Amino acid sequence: DAGHYDNGGYEHYLLKEISEQPDTVARTLRGRIDDRFHIAHLGGLNMDARETRSFRRVKIIGCGSAYYSGQIGAQLIEELARIPADAEPASEFRYRSPVVEPDTLYVAISQSGETYDTLAAVQELKRKGGRVLGIVNTVGSAIARETDGGIYLHAGPEVSVASTKAFTSTAVAFALLALHLGRVRDLSPADGRRICDGLRRLPEQIKEILTLEDRIRELAKKYADAPGMMFVGRVRGYPVAREGAQKLKEISYVHAEAYPASELKHGPLALISPELPTVAVVPDDELLDKNLTTLGEIRARHGRILMVGHRTSEAADDCIVVPRNEVELDPILLTIPLQLFAYHAAVALGRDVDRPRNLAKSVTVE
Ligand code: AGP
Repeated sequence: DAGHYDNGGYEHYLLKEISEQPDTVARTLRGRIDDRFHIAHLGGLNMDARETRSFRRVKIIGCGSAYYSGQIGAQLIEELARIPADAEPASEFRYRSPVVEPDTLYVAISQSGETYDTLAAVQELKRKGGRVLGIVNTVGSAIARETDGGIYLHAGPEVSVASTKAFTSTAVAFALLALHLGRVRDLSPADGRRICDGLRRLPEQIKEILTLEDRIRELAKKYADAPGMMFVGRVRGYPVAREGAQKLKEISYVHAEAYPASELKHGPLALISPELPTVAVVPDDELLDKNLTTLGEIRARHGRILMVGHRTSEAADDCIVVPRNEVELDPILLTIPLQLFAYHAAVALGRDVDRPRNLAKSVTVE
């Protein structure tokens, strides 16, 4: 309940929680990076090296933004540990009678630790003998108690209904888990070091992104009068786009859709017009050229484009440039401007930012 926590002088808890992220990310990392061997220390997993090496698949479950952060997590695990991994909404997972395999590691994500669908999915997994870890913020919560071990976020209480700091901390926790799983398999010490160094740079880089707030406020005002927005990204950028659309919907009530940029021409391109601006998540990765081509296709249909990435481009009307990290970790940083964008759009539209209509902070019923 918001009444128990100080808003720290911020106008809204949401802005406080967005602004806290240099600290909350540092807390998720604290004591967990080993600079000698370039590994992660995750004592809470309760798993020895033999068991850690035994998994052939990782299945991640969560609801809403927790699920989107799980998509980032699945990509991190595939990239760094080379274990097939995917994320699914917990509510869908538990009702489709999933095959529970002994060599699959299940990971349940929840900020509150009390989301009913996620808890019920964990219970179903355990009934069927699944090994389930939790990535949870709230210590001692139901999901933390029901799982066999896990990673606490240590992000502190998240009051605003829209999740922000828990989202980034979850992605950071997954980077640690992926590093851990990778280093007992094929991930080289050099790559381990690259990721450890990248993780350490995150808090300062988040601070840098937060200094862009004035400009993002202006952009939010400029785009907030649109009846709807399209969010696109590819591969690492796609879960970021989904989370950006989710934030905008939740707190500004502006309709937002997220698509893999590559899917536009298979349908949603028909929607593109000056009335439906696009937020494009375009990191400098191996898909940069393909993404810029897609922006050209949007432009050709008179769509306005706000690009979030590592450079400016003439293909977009407006650009937000964030500092670069390692490509695997870039999604964490690319999320921050989209949080600020949604926040300022909601403020510009006069919405109840911390308590959006129709939503509860934790959904403890089915
Ligand atoms: C996030 O902005 C949402 N309010 C919502 O999707 C949330 O992430 C979801 O309900 C899961 O909550 P949990 O992390 O507490 O389980």
